[in-house]
Amino acid sequence: MKTRFLAAVTALCALNVAALAQAPMPRLERRGSVTHLLVDGKPWLCLGGELLNNAASTAENVRPVWPVLANMHLNTVLVGVGWGWTEPEPGRYDFSALDGVLRDARSNHLRVVLLWFGSWKNGTSSYPPAWVKRNWQKYPIARDREGKGREILSPLSDVNRDADGEAYTALMRHVREVDSGTRTVIMVQLENEVGLLGDSRDRSKEANAAFAAPVPRELMDYLQRHKSTLLPETRTLWEGAGARTSGTWLEVFGSGPAADEAFMAWHYARYMNRIAELGKKEYPLPVLANAWIVQPQDKKPGDYPSGGPQAHNHDFWRAGAPQIDVLAPDIYLPNFAEIATLYSRNGNPLFIPETRADAANVFYAVGQLNAQMFSPFGIERQAASDSPLARAYDVLTQLAPLILDHQGTGTMKAVVVQSGAEPEKVQLGDYVFDFAVGRGWRAAQPAAGRGYAILIQTGPDEFWVAGADLSIRFASTVPAAPMASLASVEEGRFENGAWIVQRHLAGDDTGMGGDDRASLRLTADPRILRFSLYGYR
Ligand code: DGJ
Repeated sequence: MKTRFLAAVTALCALNVAALAQAPMPRLERRGSVTHLLVDGKPWLCLGGELLNNAASTAENVRPVWPVLANMHLNTVLVGVGWGWTEPEPGRYDFSALDGVLRDARSNHLRVVLLWFGSWKNGTSSYPPAWVKRNWQKYPIARDREGKGREILSPLSDVNRDADGEAYTALMRHVREVDSGTRTVIMVQLENEVGLLGDSRDRSKEANAAFAAPVPRELMDYLQRHKSTLLPETRTLWEGAGARTSGTWLEVFGSGPAADEAFMAWHYARYMNRIAELGKKEYPLPVLANAWIVQPQDKKPGDYPSGGPQAHNHDFWRAGAPQIDVLAPDIYLPNFAEIATLYSRNGNPLFIPETRADAANVFYAVGQLNAQMFSPFGIERQAASDSPLARAYDVLTQLAPLILDHQGTGTMKAVVVQSGAEPEKVQLGDYVFDFAVGRGWRAAQPAAGRGYAILIQTGPDEFWVAGADLSIRFASTVPAAPMASLASVEEGRFENGAWIVQRHLAGDDTGMGGDDRASLRLTADPRILRFSLYGYR
């Protein structure tokens, strides 16, 4: 009896393992104009947060954070893995911190994006192991004009690249071995905010020789093949120097620091492409590279990391690093939408691995800009289940399937309206929606100084809206019935994908308690409304 029971348990376990082993690999898939990240075979909206740099250097240190993040309605956590702490001696790997992280993430139903802090982190080389840093004769560093060494591994060195590549390969092998069943790890960020700080290019002997040599054929061919779709920045640079099809870096890209930057971008891209390629051979997770973006006070490359995946360098990165799937901005500046738009050109999918915890921005990013990832930095510092971000994530978790379905279809819009600004007008189908802050009966000014919303059309007269601190009025574009109003309104929640109506709204709750025009009110607490409209005259 006991034996039969054991045999049955063993068979069940085997079945389970087989089922788990078949969980599809996370991957990117382009649908029309939008690229989704597929997790378990379905589009995944990364409502994320990035841990402080060294939080996960031991599992113990980060253990208390997981349940807090899950309570904030995050579904993805971005976790740093340092080369130094995973390869303390050449060829000896220690993945115990990572194993603990994955165990705790799983038990809190969170997915993980690994950030490989290998050769570079914020331009400098603080994360390579001590045995690499100390042996700078073997692992060459970048040098200034006087030949003085910088604390930055040279991207022109194959020795550096191969050492980093071996460690990264070991990491990907380990992830494959321990995570193929559950696919907790869904993506990797390779390095962090790379590029040369303090100068426009590496001036080591090797770098000087490469800079004086002809621009590699692969890059020249890429520029010619993609001539008609190059970014305006690339075109200006290349055409400004005569659109030559061969020559040295100075001949092809002119004598300014932009030529230095193109040179660095190419070499960072090649270096990282090789590492990404090696890692994908072990375990083909999608890979992103993040950018320290150009700041308003920056005057020249080197003030920001020269040659990183900044928006104006994307053609060099595309040419040099086809294995890197996403070039991503870290956005801390206030012109969030403008920067995000620069990183969405030429089909680059919008993933934002670092930003501020701003509820309005996450709504705008996923609803208007087709972002697939939003991830405030230092998320454990924001940890409160009733913070504006947590409440926004709660609503977006419920709406994620609808949002992902409507991205890139022209049936979804998002708005952010500042206090005191003119109302924002948006058209969907036959209706015009007018979003304003602090308007109408019993209206209050939002504490955050702005309101935000996502609007989705699901039928000719059927809509969903979610957001906070806005009043919405309607008009129709149909000449025979130019006025528009609310036919019905439901307030509710999605639970396990099913819409649960909590209240039917009219009267006071649709502005008609003290106003003669119907309107929808999104209060300070973000909420979801389903409504239908009708036109009249
Ligand atoms: C941007 C970096 O990418 C992060 O790792 C971190 O260093 C933050 N800056 C600090 O604000």
